[in-house]
Amino acid sequence: MPGIKDIQKSALTAIAAAANEAELEAARVEFLGKKSALSELMKTLGKMSPEERQEKGPLYNGLRAELTEAIAAKKAELHEAALNARLAEEKIDVTLPPRPMPQGTIHPITHVTDEIVAIFADMGFAVAEGPDIESDYYNFTALNFPEGHPAREMHDTFYMVPDEKGERKVLRTHTSPVQIRTMEKQKPPLRVIIPGRTYRCDSDQTHTPMFHQLEGLAVDKTTTLGELKWVLAEFCKAFFEVPEAPMRFRPSYFPFTEPSMEVDILCDRSGGNVKIGEGEDWMEILGCGMVHPNVLKFGGLDPDDYQGWAFGMGIDRLAMLKYGIPDLRDFFAADLRWLKHYGFAALDMPNLATGLSR
Ligand code: DAH
Repeated sequence: MPGIKDIQKSALTAIAAAANEAELEAARVEFLGKKSALSELMKTLGKMSPEERQEKGPLYNGLRAELTEAIAAKKAELHEAALNARLAEEKIDVTLPPRPMPQGTIHPITHVTDEIVAIFADMGFAVAEGPDIESDYYNFTALNFPEGHPAREMHDTFYMVPDEKGERKVLRTHTSPVQIRTMEKQKPPLRVIIPGRTYRCDSDQTHTPMFHQLEGLAVDKTTTLGELKWVLAEFCKAFFEVPEAPMRFRPSYFPFTEPSMEVDILCDRSGGNVKIGEGEDWMEILGCGMVHPNVLKFGGLDPDDYQGWAFGMGIDRLAMLKYGIPDLRDFFAADLRWLKHYGFAALDMPNLATGLSR
């Protein structure tokens, strides 16, 4: 009969060598089963003298416990390896697109912004951008809103918590601060449009706390109001896709332009939908004017050498008008049913050659 040391050695070797749960079970039967060498040895305990039994008993039982434990440990190890192998085999790349591809849609604001950019790009304008979180200086002061000027109150500004220096940043209330940022960065002649998010503390059917504006700026030695009128007239015809879009320029006030005007476009409101370029009603669509000499100075330009014009319009409002969308708040409700209805096909990039809205 093999000695206890031999049994221990061959059993531990067999357990370690088991490549799967079946082989481990075979080793368990061989070394701990009823017919195993160890079981045979245990049977001899009964016939031993008490002294001998006291010596061998703990040895045999100790080995039994040791092997039982080794088998349990190996079993856990095999189990984990099998699980890892299965996980590796069944791994799926969750970044792969699902098939069939679900049809997403482009948000009307994105599409209308692309339409407007396409029109102005065709007239030689570049796109400029600036930060949503703006300093009081760029949002107001440099645009000729002196401290304490009542026009600041009209903007329902969102103020940030003051920083260590006590400066209160704002969520920009219009895209006009990017006029100053552009003048600081580039030398004239300047011809830029600035689409972007803007913020005011206001909410009803035609106002949302976050909305979108598009600013235009042209600065050169000889820019004129006549150019501004022509550019806006061309824009309106192209955007509303109508042959004529009569406009009306009304005197108005903005701190950053002098003279300042508001522009109305001819429309027909008699039916359910507003029709642009027909009828006898007027609808306000934008503000504009000649850049105020102080604003040119804040932008680092000498108003004796340069003059400019600027305009600002609400992208969301233009989108509502063109596509007959009744409530502004729906733009930002993230309702997929609404998006499916008003959204645009993903590859319909607006351009003047194939048409803007198709
Ligand atoms: N910043 C103005 C607003 O948010 C819009 C505006 C009016 C922009 C006239 C201009 C401008 O550039 O010339 O109400």
